[in-house]
Amino acid sequence: MIGRVINISSGKGGVGKTTIAINVGWILAEVFNKEVTIIDCNITTSHLGLYLGIFYSPVTLNRILRGEASIEEAIHFYSKNLKIIPASNSISDLIGVDIISLGDVLNKMREKNDIIILDSAPGLGREALGSLKFSDEVIFVTQPYLASVMDIVRAYEAIKDTNIKPLGIVLNMVFNDRFEMDKREIEQLTELPVIAKIPFDKNMRKSSYLSIPLASLNRSSKSIKEMLKLSAFLIGEKYKEERLFDKLIEKIKKIFK
Ligand SMILES: Nc1ncnc2c1ncn2[C@@H]1O[C@H](COP(=O)(O)OP(=O)(O)OP(=O)(O)O)[C@@H](O)[C@H]1O
Ligand SMILES: [Mg+2]
Repeated sequence: MIGRVINISSGKGGVGKTTIAINVGWILAEVFNKEVTIIDCNITTSHLGLYLGIFYSPVTLNRILRGEASIEEAIHFYSKNLKIIPASNSISDLIGVDIISLGDVLNKMREKNDIIILDSAPGLGREALGSLKFSDEVIFVTQPYLASVMDIVRAYEAIKDTNIKPLGIVLNMVFNDRFEMDKREIEQLTELPVIAKIPFDKNMRKSSYLSIPLASLNRSSKSIKEMLKLSAFLIGEKYKEERLFDKLIEKIKKIFK
């Protein structure tokens, strides 16, 4: 197996990269049975571990990048097929860390994973561009507002002369009202396809509170339905919506078997 490295990137911060990384990662692993690892590449303001209830790790990405620890030591086995490599939450742990060493780490991980998701830092600084450089594909996340979308135009510009394949744009926290840019306007401005429109979902607050991906709490919530479709798209499968009725029929069949 030669794993794909997919970068979840954005110009603007706080648009939902980590939320999408953990939910799509969980869905690919536990719904579609893929071997998945998510790596926190937002080294200066890391959140991945916190979002998953991993509040302290003795071995983090920081120590791997410094050459002090092996990848195996840093892996958290989160669920059956999902592994996590958090970054450190300590400022002093930033000393001596350079994202440029990430290439070697990824090469060692490819054969053990179908998909490696990089939860990127926002913007176009060294940290964000560093992780982009080692990715095969990139998903740009934005809210449907001009400033956030313009940052995608700039981010796309930064990879245009590279081999990194832009998969498209994920619109997040969408309200579908007249104050937002629509899909067509965003596609025209960015010259990229919009591959998912994830609605603003108030259930996200419960997921944050419990530090558990919403996909594992409530698969029928509206944002997760869209992320199920996105995950299927990423692996070239067709997503069939789970209907309550189908589940009921399955149960009845079992009883009469
Ligand atoms: N679809 C959604 N509906 C409602 N809230 C959301 C949605 N997506 C993300 N959020 C919330 O928005 C906030 C920011 O999300 P998140 O941390 O994933 O963004 P980010 O792009 O990773 O941020 P950063 O740039 O700081 O890394 C979080 O509180 C998260 O729960
Ligand atoms: Mg984040």
